Amino acid sequence: MMQDRPRNPFTPSFGQIPLHMAGREMVIDELLRAFDNGGGDPNLSTILIGARGTGKTALMSLLAHEAQGRGWLSVNVSALPGMLNDIVQQVRHVSRDAVDKPGGMRLKGVGIPQVLDIEWEREPQELPNWRTLMSEILEELNERDTGLLITIDEVRGDFDELIQLIAIHQHFVREERKVALLMAGLPGEVSSLLQDKSVSFFRRACQRHLGRIDDFEIERALRRTVEDSGKEIESVALKRAVDAIGGFPFMMQLVGYRSWEEGALRKSIGVAEVEYGIQAAQHDMRARVLNATLDELSDGDVRFIAAMVEDEGASRLADIAQRMGVSGNYAAQYRRRLIENGVIGPRGRGKIDFELPGMRNYVREQLVDF
Ligand SMILES: Nc1ncnc2c1ncn2[C@@H]1O[C@H](COP(=O)(O)OP(=O)(O)O)[C@@H](O)[C@H]1O
Ligand SMILES: [Mg+2]
Repeated sequence: MMQDRPRNPFTPSFGQIPLHMAGREMVIDELLRAFDNGGGDPNLSTILIGARGTGKTALMSLLAHEAQGRGWLSVNVSALPGMLNDIVQQVRHVSRDAVDKPGGMRLKGVGIPQVLDIEWEREPQELPNWRTLMSEILEELNERDTGLLITIDEVRGDFDELIQLIAIHQHFVREERKVALLMAGLPGEVSSLLQDKSVSFFRRACQRHLGRIDDFEIERALRRTVEDSGKEIESVALKRAVDAIGGFPFMMQLVGYRSWEEGALRKSIGVAEVEYGIQAAQHDMRARVLNATLDELSDGDVRFIAAMVEDEGASRLADIAQRMGVSGNYAAQYRRRLIENGVIGPRGRGKIDFELPGMRNYVREQLVDF
């Protein structure tokens, strides 16, 4: 009996590639074109910037996956100690896999066996060696028209290995090699990384801010995900879900997942299932996104959003400054920082509102004991 029950098609975990990506088409198109073009395309040095849950990791994984079908070898790491060494080990593993399973990787080049001939046993942690080793690897790959894509997740500013890697990448780009570096991080971390003068190159690289996704995109992706699993969603229920999702990718997965579970035994997901799904999703959102986001804010940021929650909808900067008892210019600094962090966003006529669904209520509750 159990096997008749279709699988829940939603992906409510960090880092999972969704079945249907809502929005993000422009970034995807441009990056895919860049992979097709090969070296020299400025999109091949790109940094994805967004708040927690906006879909940075999922997008990066998707792109890495697509790159592999387009003649690129991709290695994927997080910005953690040992990263440089990890990259070398992964290149070796991926190369070996590609040799063992011909065609499995769909790599265009046949240069992989030569990569394995490289002498790997040197100490790649030492930087000059790392650069030389990577340079040899690139030569072998590039000679067969295979590129090397490195993806680095969770970048941060105070990390030496990362800064060094970026500097080396910059050399490789100047040498017109077929290389790509795709990074992702929280806005605050990225801006502190870009402050380091040895990575000035990346200040000019493509910075992509992953903001809110349009409702119609969410609606379409949500409906397609449900329909692909053999179910339907009633149109009133769908509208209600889209409203609660607020353009936020993680919330789309949470609402979808919970509503789908609630209606698991039915053919169609209706308003009752979605209402339940939203409740449950809001709970998850607090525990997994809002909580950590609020914790990371400075006291000044918190005072600013505390002033915002007195409004029911979008707030005016002048009102906030007055409530905080500060000048408009002073309040504007917090406004800018919070926008940069993806916590709030501009809403026409100089107003601002929260970008994270459920943030207003969460802040209200938390402020009782602030
Ligand atoms: N464009 C998208 N459309 C729908 N769901 C998405 C999209 N991007 C990411 N997701 C989902 O959102 C959640 C968070 O994605 P993730 O990439 O981990 O975010 P981040 O790395 O920015 O914190 C995951 O459940 C993922 O499946
Ligand atoms: Mg992530």
